Amino acid sequence: MSQAQSAQSKAQETAVYTHGHHESVLRSHTWRTAANSAAYLLGSLKPHMKILDVGCGPGTITADLAALVPEGHVTGVDQAPEILEQARATAAGRGLANIEFAVADVHALDFPDDTFCVVHAHQVLQHVGDPVGALREMRRVTKPGGFIAVRDSDYAAMTWYPASQGMDDWLDLYRRVARANGGEPDAGRRLKSWALRAGLTDVTAGSSTWTFATPDERAWWSGLWADRTLASAYAERATEGGHASAEQLRAVSQAWREWGRQEDGWFSVLHGEILCRKEA
Ligand SMILES: C[S@@+](CC[C@H](N)C(=O)[O-])C[C@H]1O[C@@H](n2cnc3c(N)ncnc32)[C@H](O)[C@@H]1O
Repeated sequence: MSQAQSAQSKAQETAVYTHGHHESVLRSHTWRTAANSAAYLLGSLKPHMKILDVGCGPGTITADLAALVPEGHVTGVDQAPEILEQARATAAGRGLANIEFAVADVHALDFPDDTFCVVHAHQVLQHVGDPVGALREMRRVTKPGGFIAVRDSDYAAMTWYPASQGMDDWLDLYRRVARANGGEPDAGRRLKSWALRAGLTDVTAGSSTWTFATPDERAWWSGLWADRTLASAYAERATEGGHASAEQLRAVSQAWREWGRQEDGWFSVLHGEILCRKEA
């Protein structure tokens, strides 16, 4: 049995993806670009590189990566087949020919050892059942001398102004639901530790932020969270799992809208980042 077959026979996802792919969730995912979400990786890219984007979702970052490696190739994979249709449409709309998409679980990637120059995952490891196993699998399919690049937010480190009990309730609820689903919402701070446990030795760990403060940014960020809180898979899991009543969700959603209306409102999302080099 090959290493790849051995990995596939053992590992599979045990967590439930907290957000789902409701329109209010995709409003955030489709805003993402390589520039606003993978800047720490861009200096290492070369035009000929072969890249795997794990947990690619609707594929806007994946498409940007493909445009940055015109002589190379990008494969986007996600465990959710339905979102890959949107990713394919995004790539086709941009006229990209060096990109393809497939269904895959990061714990058991269907690729031979040493296949890709770069294996990238943005906002994925916080949702998986075995992030250390996932990193081992990402390392396996990376070529010697290649890069494993991972970025995840850290919910407990998110901060905002002005203070709001309803927003505190949102953070507490989100972290409880994400953990009940088998994920780790405070992943950003743990990425370096997970990488070392996965056997990676050349690990550069950093951080970066998104800030939402202008009227348009506040309206967009507060609106999508207000809607997610009522209509996304996270809302269903919050009530079905007994973490919140419908009334509590309405109060949290309202708190987001109120924050969005504050002229002096400010919100910062902290992300941990790791750029790891597989030993040559
Ligand atoms: C927060 S979204 C991020 C999407 C994209 N990387 C971005 O930043 O816009 C997380 C994605 O990871 C996918 N996902 C969750 N668990 C996964 C797993 N075990 N293997 C592959 N993809 C997974 C979800 O279906 C979802 O599309």
